[in-house]
Amino acid sequence: MNTAESIVLAAEKRLEHASTVDHIEQVRVDVLGKKGALTELLKGLGKLSAEERPSVGQAINAAKKNLIRLLDEKGEQLAEGARQKDLINTAIDVTMPGRGRTNGSAHPVSQVQAKIEDLFHHVGFEVARGPEIEDEYHNFEALNIPKHHPARAMHDTFYFKPDLLLRTHTSPVQIRVMKEKTLPIRIIAPGRVYRCDYDQTHSPMFHQVEGLWIDEIATMAELKGMLNSFLLAFFERDDLEIRYRPSYFPFTEPSMEVDIKLPSAHGLSGWLEVLGCGMVHPNVLTNVGLDPEQCSGFAFGMGVERLAMLKYGISDLRHFFENDLRFLSQF
Ligand code: DAH
Repeated sequence: MNTAESIVLAAEKRLEHASTVDHIEQVRVDVLGKKGALTELLKGLGKLSAEERPSVGQAINAAKKNLIRLLDEKGEQLAEGARQKDLINTAIDVTMPGRGRTNGSAHPVSQVQAKIEDLFHHVGFEVARGPEIEDEYHNFEALNIPKHHPARAMHDTFYFKPDLLLRTHTSPVQIRVMKEKTLPIRIIAPGRVYRCDYDQTHSPMFHQVEGLWIDEIATMAELKGMLNSFLLAFFERDDLEIRYRPSYFPFTEPSMEVDIKLPSAHGLSGWLEVLGCGMVHPNVLTNVGLDPEQCSGFAFGMGVERLAMLKYGISDLRHFFENDLRFLSQF
């Protein structure tokens, strides 16, 4: 066996145990590098006789080729091993159960508001909206609540400055609509309202839906008939009891509060107040330039969170604003 072949054989042995790219590189340098074993042999060619030189030269070159092939093969082997390892490590088990996805849903307050809008839409009401930042005129004065009227104290108003405030109810939308539209008027005004109040049944921001109906003649019988139908449809119960109680609001005369009684199975007992309503006060009609002799109307206002609490049997209003998914995902 010539020297070149034995060098390759030794290198091959070392390659068998090589486990990293660095090991392979070391073998290459040891054999083919500047001072490598085969390189040294080539350098020695010049010392040989002219007859010997071709055959020895050929043998060295053959050995060199052979070694390069071995180095390439080993390199490829290592790379393939790494690829396999990588495939195993990053393998996806398609038989594993998925993580799943839960469906989002509208907030219960939005759902109830949409339901109210839908029911009134069916009987010809349009949705109207007004600003949340109001002036005293629309929020109070035009609604027959002059300065120093005791009703103002009950509103716990957030003021920006003496004439600018966060609306305490959606009733000011009545004023804006009556000034803009011609008769007959049938609107509901859903939206946020603000009062400086916070406990189990009060929140500084909550939602109301205001209703207004003005025509040449509008009667209390129509008001009661419509609200009865609304409440039966909203609570989805034929066995709902409803009663009208005389009350007082500055912007209606006469005024009433409406109570409902749910079947005892619902978890809430006794009469529960659900909304306020009444015949629009002649002063309010005059304030917007309507003649109380030529037209009449009725109005009503309800709290959306309150209706949601009654419908779903929720005892603490604050649940609606804490954004706890365990609560919200039940709707
Ligand atoms: N604005 C009243 C409130 O916030 C609710 C209300 C009562 C509105 C009677 C009305 C009504 O339109 O007629 O408490």
